[in-house]
Amino acid sequence: MNTPPEKPRIVELRPSIFQLNFGWPSSHVYLVKGRAKNVLIDTGTAANFPRLALSLAELDLGPRDIHLVVLTHEHSDHIGACAYLFGNSVIAAHPLAANKIELQDEFVTMRPYLDADARPFQADLWLEAGTSIELGNYRLRVLHTPGHCSGCVCLHEPEQGLLFTGDTVFVGGALSGIFVSGSISDYVHSLQALSSLRLEEFYPGHGPISKTPREDILKAVNDSRALLEDSKILFGALDTKRAFDRILTGVRRTKK
Ligand SMILES: [Fe+2]
Repeated sequence: MNTPPEKPRIVELRPSIFQLNFGWPSSHVYLVKGRAKNVLIDTGTAANFPRLALSLAELDLGPRDIHLVVLTHEHSDHIGACAYLFGNSVIAAHPLAANKIELQDEFVTMRPYLDADARPFQADLWLEAGTSIELGNYRLRVLHTPGHCSGCVCLHEPEQGLLFTGDTVFVGGALSGIFVSGSISDYVHSLQALSSLRLEEFYPGHGPISKTPREDILKAVNDSRALLEDSKILFGALDTKRAFDRILTGVRRTKK
């Protein structure tokens, strides 16, 4: 006998903005019900799709009622269920995420570790920084925030002071790991840019939401700077020159 999927937790954070909370390893999924169109921010894992469909049904929606899916970045715990929505919903991601998804760059997306059963799909829309998504009741502005990985975006709702952060920053200012395609210095720069926003709350891809966004992001800026300094000390302590010399010798040989 098939066990029915476990009931997800649905929280209405603001009028028509819902957090669908599935627990590890899936990311949270956010649903923004616009006046005419519905947007999902991330989809969670493919394995989690039955629970996503159940959540949408509780909100009187089916997968076909999702008009747009915006992916905060290319990691498989955030994107796996897209394959079930592809062909119906428009799937949007930053070009540096969309490219890796299209080419199935699993070194970056980590599919085998995070969502082994996920099927391939493509982003329909390559979402540049500065794009605004107008939903009538909310406007979502795309901010490119590389660091955790190269294709990270945050979505800023300027009127209400809301920010969907993906894995860029978590409650209490907790930092993400710097994964393949990521960069600590890009992370510092992205967090500094976020610290200038007027925010009431931020909504991360995992864990609780932040009701003290300014303090949390400023802490993240300081901690990311400290991480950069630590990485310089580590770089200095390691015997990196010998490794670089080996690479350069190899390059010289190929040019002969
Ligand atoms: Fe991630």
